Amino acid sequence: MMLYVDNFADDLKGVAKKIDYFIECGVNYVHLMPLLESPKEHSDGGYAVADFRKVQPELGTIDDLCALTDLCHKNNISCCLDFVMNHTSDEHAWAKAARSGDKDARSRYFFYDSWDIPNTYEQTVPQVFPTTAPGNFTKLDDNSIVMTTFYPYQWDLNYANPMVFNDMTENMLFLANAGLDVIRLDAVPYIWKELGTTCRNLPQVHTIVRLMRMICEIVCPSVLLLGEVVMEPSKVVPYFGTIDKPECNMLYNVTTMASTWNTIATRDVRLLDRQMKQLAELPKNYVFLNYLRCHDDIGWGLDYSWLNTLKMEEAPHKKYLNDYFTGKLAGSVSRGELYNDDPVLQDARLCGTTASLCGVESALWDKDDEALELALAADIMLHAYMFTQSGIPVIYSGDEVGQLNNYMYHADINKKFDSRYLHRGKFDWKLAEKRKDENSYQGKIFNALRKLETVRAKNDVFKANAEFHSAETGSDNVLGIYRKYAGQELLALFNFCSEKRSLKIDRNYTDLIKDRYITNKVIELRPYGFVWALLK
Ligand code: GLC
Repeated sequence: MMLYVDNFADDLKGVAKKIDYFIECGVNYVHLMPLLESPKEHSDGGYAVADFRKVQPELGTIDDLCALTDLCHKNNISCCLDFVMNHTSDEHAWAKAARSGDKDARSRYFFYDSWDIPNTYEQTVPQVFPTTAPGNFTKLDDNSIVMTTFYPYQWDLNYANPMVFNDMTENMLFLANAGLDVIRLDAVPYIWKELGTTCRNLPQVHTIVRLMRMICEIVCPSVLLLGEVVMEPSKVVPYFGTIDKPECNMLYNVTTMASTWNTIATRDVRLLDRQMKQLAELPKNYVFLNYLRCHDDIGWGLDYSWLNTLKMEEAPHKKYLNDYFTGKLAGSVSRGELYNDDPVLQDARLCGTTASLCGVESALWDKDDEALELALAADIMLHAYMFTQSGIPVIYSGDEVGQLNNYMYHADINKKFDSRYLHRGKFDWKLAEKRKDENSYQGKIFNALRKLETVRAKNDVFKANAEFHSAETGSDNVLGIYRKYAGQELLALFNFCSEKRSLKIDRNYTDLIKDRYITNKVIELRPYGFVWALLK
């Protein structure tokens, strides 16, 4: 599970007090969102770090962090924390020194006296936040110009300066000493800049990640590196490195995540099926973190060259997806908001919680019980699909009780320009209490997820190194996955449409969730239904 400390339980001590909730949820991995010191008004959700050795005072202290990681370990829970390595806050000591003219400090960043070089960069470097933070450079009060790929208050570090690498590596090891088991390398593809390039995924990035991996293996071999590589499909896998020269231990399965939401909007599983086929080809020691939602937006990084063969063009397709998920299209029950809507590139991304994107919010608003059942079915089916993939499934805190969008951020001066806060609301413990009531929607989602997790944990066929491939279903609405491990064979089916579907079968199966035999010769799938059928 990934969570914001303040949203979940106010501070680190509060999170420690909620350890029983983790246990109740069956959680054995907790990713704490950035919690190091960061200026309140200019924090990018904690991703603008002002001090890599200090916890944000409202959240606690390094000692609290150590106490929490200790407690988690005692309960067999691993902990992950972000290592924001591409940039520092403009309030970091190095940035402050650089601003006051210190030459050494300036050489830790990309400083220019005129726009000549920055403008040359701008010709080839795309923009990360075209609407909320256009451009890749920021002019300072003394007229010097500094590289700021993300927000203007996030100054890019220059890893060509070996002091940056040394000091940042020490900062990373400091986190390892605080008991973190997994270090999330934030925005890692961006860490090397070269004029005339996109400044993304350059070969030097891989060298640096490789060095960090070697350092971890020598100094703290139980610490794993999780790469945040939110890039088009072909750019992601190289971050695993090679067998001889491994880089990240784990990567986010971002393409599957985006393709999954694409499938909800199109009800057409062909793209996802293709994605499953591609994953099936990868070595089994590549560990993916699978997820439906996280703290960031959903970017539509899909395989457009393949979609073109189905006569789907990138710009109109993205528009269709965004219209669907913002509820603009007739029949759409989703309630999302656009993120960084770039009118030039027509490349808006999307925000919203799983439940709101699946239609729970609109059904509750309309008091439509039938629509609510469909929305819950879609929400649960998506989780079941996530649990079927090989790797580590990560729940975004709140999703386990169907938490809805948080519209309060519109009224917060520091947040209202960043729609990612739509799905970064406070965890509502009062509503979460309803998980104990089987008839509440919270209870329905929570219990369904618990069941999925228990069944998944009990059956080896879900192990990451199981054989898996996509299974033919005869319907473009139904995705099929076949898994095999140590004598167990599983056929998993997911109906991505709001009508019933059925599949003829010629072998006998057990429905793992309902714990009963599938006796007739067909598997019936209800609207947005799924089945985990284990071969008898
Ligand atoms: C990563 C984070 C994102 C943040 C960015 C800049 O992509 O996931 O939330 O805005 O890095 O640090």
